Amino acid sequence: MDKFIINGGVQLEGTISVSGSKNATLPIAVAAAILADSASVIHNVPNLRDVETLCAVLEVLGATTKYKNSTLYIEPISRLVHEAPYDLVRKMRASIYVLGPLIARLGRAKVSFPGGCAIGPRPIDLHIKGLERLGAKIQIIGGYIVAEADGLVGAEMLLRGQYGSSVGATANVMMAATLAEGTTIIRSAAREPHVSDLARFLNAMGANIEGIGTSVLKIHGVKQLRGTEYAVVSDDVETGTFMVAGAITKGDIFVKNAVPENLTAISEKLTEAGVQLDWEDDGVRVTTPRQLQAVDVRTDTFPGFPTDMQAQMMGFLSVTPGISIITETIHTDRFIHVGELNRMGADIQVDQNSAVIRGVPRLNGAPVMASDLRAGAVLVLAGMAAEGETTVSRVYHIDRGYESIEKKLASIGADIIRVNDYGDRRRFPYHEPQYLLVHHTPHRR
Ligand code: EPU
Repeated sequence: MDKFIINGGVQLEGTISVSGSKNATLPIAVAAAILADSASVIHNVPNLRDVETLCAVLEVLGATTKYKNSTLYIEPISRLVHEAPYDLVRKMRASIYVLGPLIARLGRAKVSFPGGCAIGPRPIDLHIKGLERLGAKIQIIGGYIVAEADGLVGAEMLLRGQYGSSVGATANVMMAATLAEGTTIIRSAAREPHVSDLARFLNAMGANIEGIGTSVLKIHGVKQLRGTEYAVVSDDVETGTFMVAGAITKGDIFVKNAVPENLTAISEKLTEAGVQLDWEDDGVRVTTPRQLQAVDVRTDTFPGFPTDMQAQMMGFLSVTPGISIITETIHTDRFIHVGELNRMGADIQVDQNSAVIRGVPRLNGAPVMASDLRAGAVLVLAGMAAEGETTVSRVYHIDRGYESIEKKLASIGADIIRVNDYGDRRRFPYHEPQYLLVHHTPHRR
């Protein structure tokens, strides 16, 4: 298992590029593989473990996938398999995205029931409710979701749970509804940038979706969808993470491919804390010319502050003077990073779904462990701001969602290296192993 060794205290300087969105790529790849009847070419696909895992799931279902230089080529075959086994689904919750499309395309699906994960229980009742409203008959048998449908029919539904709208349920039902008979209306639909990107991709395949970017999606069913060529939107969470990297190291960086309308809540909170953001056509310059100050943050569904940026923001606020409070309303147990930040000298106390952060003058390097993707990202940020050496272990969590993060950060001055189990140290630039593809050409949408 690889580790990162980070020597903190360097002010980052230069241009860092954002890759395509992980959370848009995953359902887009599923739609291309299962819903379309011909091949798709998808550009700006990040080189990530989660994308690799999803492609393995799609291959088991009968699709062919090929990834090179940020482009994913997907060929659906006519005789798709309807079963997604436990061994694959357990590796990544997003595998649940195959459920709706399989029911729509094949009239049946058997998908392993995804379990909880480090950030909480993560139920799928809204996915099931929505697909049942379209006419699917769904049972849970032996740890599997077993679904059957004799043709899906459009319906009106409210996809809202205790924690608000659901990204996954909206995407799953929207994909299934594209091939249903008649019109589906999803009220309280998730509006996250990756949901809108999926909708745009589906329309490019021939679907008829109205209301993209709003909380009411109207999907008029069509007979068939064809493959298409498309470029995935930039990753808003990677962008936010880099913006925090600039701020926490008091650097002067330009985050290229940042899309302002997808980052309003993050930008607003950083600005309120005293960070200077200067937007240009192709990105944003991040500097900290003023005294920073504490801010309160409450996570919410889009356009609110994203839960996927909560940990990174907490890292930043842990070294920002004053007392900040972060309230997590989406994944209410998502505080596993607090213990690790406190090991580095932060002063953070959790009370139910809120964290009280008393800004300290500095963090101290320490051995720490990534426990999930974003909890791992904040440890890299904290390590860059800390005095001395930080070792972040279990970086495979970070590799799930950040493309070559250490290379990108090293290219703007961070002192970070990847070390494998055998102690081989790799400082950027290093020779890439075969499976990593580095010739990334970001697309600005
Ligand atoms: N929820 C339900 N019932 C459901 C579905 C969700 O109660 O049927 C609850 C969840 O437990 C949670 C809230 O609703 O409290 C929101 O969950 P949502 O369905 O929106 O999350 P998701 O689709 O499972 C996606 C992202 C997550 C991100 C959330 C929230 C992907 C692949 N994953 O998950 O991303 O945190 O939306 O924005 O898109 C990450 O990238 O680090 C990550 C965890």
